[in-house]
Amino acid sequence: MSEQQSQQPNIHANGASGNRHRTGSNGNSEQHSAGSTGPAGAFSPRFAQIVGWGYHVPEKVITNFDLEQIVDTKDEWIRSRTGIEERHVAAAPSETSATLGILAGRAALEMADVTPSKVDLIICATSSPEHIFPSTASIIQDGLGASNAGAFDLSAACSGFVYGLSMARGHILAGDAEYVLVIGAETLSRIVDWTDRTTCVLFGDGSGAVLVAASDVPGGITATVLGSDGSGADLLTVPAGGSAMPASLETVSSGGHYIKMDGTAVFRFATRVMAEATRQVLGKAGLSVDDVDLVIPHQANVRIIQNSVFKQLKIPEDKVFINLQKYGNTSTASIPIALCEAIEAGKIKPGDNLVFVGFGAGLTWAACAIKWSVPIAKPEETWWRNTQRQAAYQAAAARSMWKRAIRRVYSQFPAKSRWGERKEESEAG
Ligand code: UT7
Repeated sequence: MSEQQSQQPNIHANGASGNRHRTGSNGNSEQHSAGSTGPAGAFSPRFAQIVGWGYHVPEKVITNFDLEQIVDTKDEWIRSRTGIEERHVAAAPSETSATLGILAGRAALEMADVTPSKVDLIICATSSPEHIFPSTASIIQDGLGASNAGAFDLSAACSGFVYGLSMARGHILAGDAEYVLVIGAETLSRIVDWTDRTTCVLFGDGSGAVLVAASDVPGGITATVLGSDGSGADLLTVPAGGSAMPASLETVSSGGHYIKMDGTAVFRFATRVMAEATRQVLGKAGLSVDDVDLVIPHQANVRIIQNSVFKQLKIPEDKVFINLQKYGNTSTASIPIALCEAIEAGKIKPGDNLVFVGFGAGLTWAACAIKWSVPIAKPEETWWRNTQRQAAYQAAAARSMWKRAIRRVYSQFPAKSRWGERKEESEAG
């Protein structure tokens, strides 16, 4: 039995699937929890804990020097104005928001040692969905073989991942779900205008995921703050391709399907809301700025982080995790990727108070306070476990292909024989 498993014994059943995750016991915050009354009349508090995490970035890297060959820019300008040095880009057609999301989702489930069939809900926050519909989340659900999960996309731009955590917490505290997979997945390179130097240098592709589980251990996601100011909708937008401006030859030839941004206005807004949202969420969690062990901000621009988190909140640099130099702005994926790297770097330990804070198009902003309460230990990887997992992935792919094949065969039958008498009746009457 792995170290993580040994610290997560089964506890009393108290929810949809009766499978609540027992985590470490370092958390001490009992506020903002929900619960239920058990058979003996004892109140059983319920908490939403992050128990698995994972990320994936495409292999192809584009450096600032590469960009110098494409647009009129300089490495020095990009570095000094944003902090970005390189970004990963989905170069292969098979790399889509869904496939990146599936890889991050698998990694989070593997980390938690939870099978896809136990997931109750998949929330995919994305600014570059595969389609207007169906949702990228549904495609991810099929790819993961999460046959018992509901799935939906969440559109709140770069704030989307923290919005997703807030939704996951709500579902869990309400008793509607035991496991919620929250994914941020982006292929922004597909909607960036590679001739526009004011935007193409900023963004990157990637995905990150966390598994949020119901737990009786105090802590986890203790407070959230969500905000929106739609009067700034035009400051950062993909104008065409939706119902307001449907795709046409004209929208395509004018580049209306690419990201357009008033960078300076977004910069001003971001520096203000990052500090405000952090203060608000700490207040809700009953914490002060001094209690914070690590802030993981949305990774858009190092100067936004400096002006808000360092200068306004006076949180020291060693308590802020920054990795945007390697990935650029990966929108909804930036915070979960940074979380995974912060864990890898040994920056998070049980008992820590974390803040995730982001901003984005909408305009939107979001923050959450987390009392980290789970052990940071990857389940022991064995040959047998790995084989089981690979078999489950193959089975999920086979199940999906089988269902598609059945539908194709079914669609060959004439409508009359499918609907039989019902159709005849409706034609007659
Ligand atoms: O997740 C949310 C996504 N959005 C953001 O986070 C964006 C927030 N905004 C920003 O990060 C910054 O506003 C930018 C990085 C986009 C721009 O930085 P800035 O310091 O606000 O520069 P600026 O827009 O004021 O432009 C200064 C100059 C302009 O030239 P002129 O008009 O002064 O001659 C730009 O044309 O820099 C020029 N410029 C560039 N030069 C070289 C703009 N982009 C580039 C570039 N390379 N890539």
